[in-house]
Amino acid sequence: MFEELGFNYSLGSDNHSGVHPRVMEVLSAANRGHAHAYGMDELCRLTLEEFRRVFGPEVEPHYVFTGTAANVLCLSSLKSFEAVICSEEAHIHVDECGAPEKFLGAKLWTVPTRDGKITPAQCGPALSRGGDQHFSQPRAVSLTQPTELGLCYTLDELREWRRFTTEKNLMLHLDGARLVNAAAHLNVSLKELTSGIGVDVVSFGGTKNGLMGAEVCLLFTKPAKENFKFYRKQAMQLSSKTRFLAAQFYAFLKDDLWLEIARHSTSHATRLSHALNEFSEIRLAHPVQSNALFVHLPKAWIAPLRKKYFFYVWPGGENLCRWMISFDWTDELTNKLLEEIREVRKCFPAA
Ligand SMILES: Cc1ncc(COP(=O)(O)O)c(C=O)c1O
Repeated sequence: MFEELGFNYSLGSDNHSGVHPRVMEVLSAANRGHAHAYGMDELCRLTLEEFRRVFGPEVEPHYVFTGTAANVLCLSSLKSFEAVICSEEAHIHVDECGAPEKFLGAKLWTVPTRDGKITPAQCGPALSRGGDQHFSQPRAVSLTQPTELGLCYTLDELREWRRFTTEKNLMLHLDGARLVNAAAHLNVSLKELTSGIGVDVVSFGGTKNGLMGAEVCLLFTKPAKENFKFYRKQAMQLSSKTRFLAAQFYAFLKDDLWLEIARHSTSHATRLSHALNEFSEIRLAHPVQSNALFVHLPKAWIAPLRKKYFFYVWPGGENLCRWMISFDWTDELTNKLLEEIREVRKCFPAA
């Protein structure tokens, strides 16, 4: 069935990949009989136990359908006169069509960055007018882990952020659409990366790592938990058949499938980056610390390569391109890609 669609592999996004077979299996297993709706069923309870095992006993998971909804809802306790400090590359700033501004009413205070990471030392101007009625009042810091450019904050950097945000009475949010890839790269547990740091809220992604449109807001602290369920319902993200979102996270967390998936894509990305040493014409823009490669390609190579494997040319100049490695990438695909690059090099001189 659907053979006419062609079944290709893409470097465009980890959203381009399908659903992990284990997730499909668990979805199918959950598809029996009737169960209570709106998170009141037995599978949601079992999955809650998995979340507590993986993230710590205080975690409160609330499923949503998209990463954008997860981000906006994680910040839903903000008032309209407050502000979120984030990097100028942050997904909430550049890729969510103003959803945070629309739904929170709050301001995003952006901080310049080269690689998506920001530091507490950059927050001075945002915090300079506390109590001033003419000025938006910073209330949260949002960090993307790994960043939109594939870099990871270290545990020490995150701890520094927690110290700083506590001192300044700011909430700490992680946009963890690919948090599992950061955990795999840093070789730390998801607990160390979240409750271990003392973060307030995390947008924990599943879709980019083999789930079928399932994301979850993880709430760790009392202020973050307060009234959350009302905000989610108002935002139209309360699923009636919640068991099918829970089933996917059950598969993801059970026996640490998330780690298997994240190690797979992250190590393929790293190995591909090493293999690219063969091509003096290709330059990595950033070290590979997740499942993303950012490469400067010779201009003449981009079009012919994109015909073989789709990928995005990224803002940032110098023919910067993003290659995303999905959970179902293989050595064979890497070898085929390298072969394509060799062919393109023969036909299209770099200069
Ligand atoms: C870092 C990051 N956060 C959030 C999102 C939002 O996810 P969605 O497209 O499901 O709203 C994305 C999507 O690409 C992302 O890369």
